Parts: sequence; structure tokens; C-alpha cells
Amino acid sequence: MPKQKFPLADVYQLLGSGPTVLISTSLKGKYNVMPIAWTTPLDFKPPIIACCIGDHSYTFQIVKRTKEFVINIPTANLVKKVVGCGSVSGRKVDKFKKFKLTPEPASKIKAPLVKECYVNLECKVIDSSLINKYNLFIVKVVAAWMERGIKHPRTIHHITGKRFILGGREISA
Ligand SMILES: Cc1cc2nc3c(=O)[nH]c(=O)nc-3n(C[C@H](O)[C@H](O)[C@H](O)COP(=O)(O)O)c2cc1C
Repeated sequence: MPKQKFPLADVYQLLGSGPTVLISTSLKGKYNVMPIAWTTPLDFKPPIIACCIGDHSYTFQIVKRTKEFVINIPTANLVKKVVGCGSVSGRKVDKFKKFKLTPEPASKIKAPLVKECYVNLECKVIDSSLINKYNLFIVKVVAAWMERGIKHPRTIHHITGKRFILGGREISA
């Protein structure tokens, strides 16, 4: 089958295959939460992750100051809340309240866990050198939590807009 040119501006849609996550933060005791699709693991042990958090966002401002956040991994039942949290800014709205999400205390940082998500990763920023250039926060996971008993979590993998690929099926080679 002959190939056709693919729009350069849409290339990100082909590679952004990790689960969409909710980044939760705390500033002066006030919580915020924002979805991001652009994350990638960089190392195994300790677990190092890169997260691209746009400088338009309130989350960007908060993390620049606090140097910590939680990466929460939602499943498909939360997809509407995830999109909702990405449609308004925490500068104007208490998103935990508006989208009926439950903050829970983390063990090592002040940012809260999102109870409804099946995984919570407490993270601390360890390298700020790419923040100004690429909005890229390099973090170390300092504590990790997972709800046991979910065999094939139906994670949501963002394409664009409100479109996602559903995870959950596993194959072996
Ligand atoms: C599914 C989805 C994925 C998103 N991925 C990203 C992302 O990877 N990086 C980013 O900066 N913003 C991303 N956004 C946009 C932010 O979530 C959005 O701007 C949010 O309202 C910012 O919230 P805040 O101002 O409260 O921090 C995404 C939004 C949605 C709905």
C-alpha cells in the first residue's frame, strides 16, 4: 500500500501512547489537578520520569514553586472527569470539588493522591534544567501505590481532543 504524507503537526498523536495521567498538586494547602498525556519513563531504579507540563497551566506555576506532584493513573470510568479537568484551570475552579474527586494524603509530599485513580506515584522534581526550554520536569518517584486486584486496568491513552485508545488487553510474543 503506498504511503501518504502525514501532517507534521499530528506526529505527536502517533507516539503519545502512555496512559493519560492526572497530575495533582498542592499550594498553600489548596489542591489542584490536571491531565497530561505527555510523560515518559527515563530510568528504572530509582524510577525517573519526564513530564511535559505546559507553561500556560496553573500546575506549571505550582510545580515550579513546590517541586513536587503526584502522578495518578485513571481508568476508563473516569474519562469524562479527566477531560473536564483538562478544560478548566485551577486558577478559577476547585477541580477536586467540581469533578467529585477525592484528595488523600500522600506519604512523602504535600501534594494529594487522587483516591479514584488505581495508581498514585509521589514525585519530586530532581532536574529543572529543561523546564524553561521544553516545559519538561524530570522527577523521581519517591513512593508508589497501586490498587491490587485490577487484572487488566482499562487505562486511557490520549489521541487528541476527546479521543482516546483504550488499554487493558495484553498480548505475549
Ligand atoms: C486528555 C488531555 C491530555 C492533556 N495533556 C496535556 C499535556 O500532556 N501537557 C499539557 O501541558 N497539557 C495537557 N492538557 C491540557 C491541560 O490539562 C489543561 O490546560 C488544564 O486545564 C490545565 O489545568 P491547570 O491550569 O489547572 O493546571 C491535556 C488535556 C487533556 C484533556
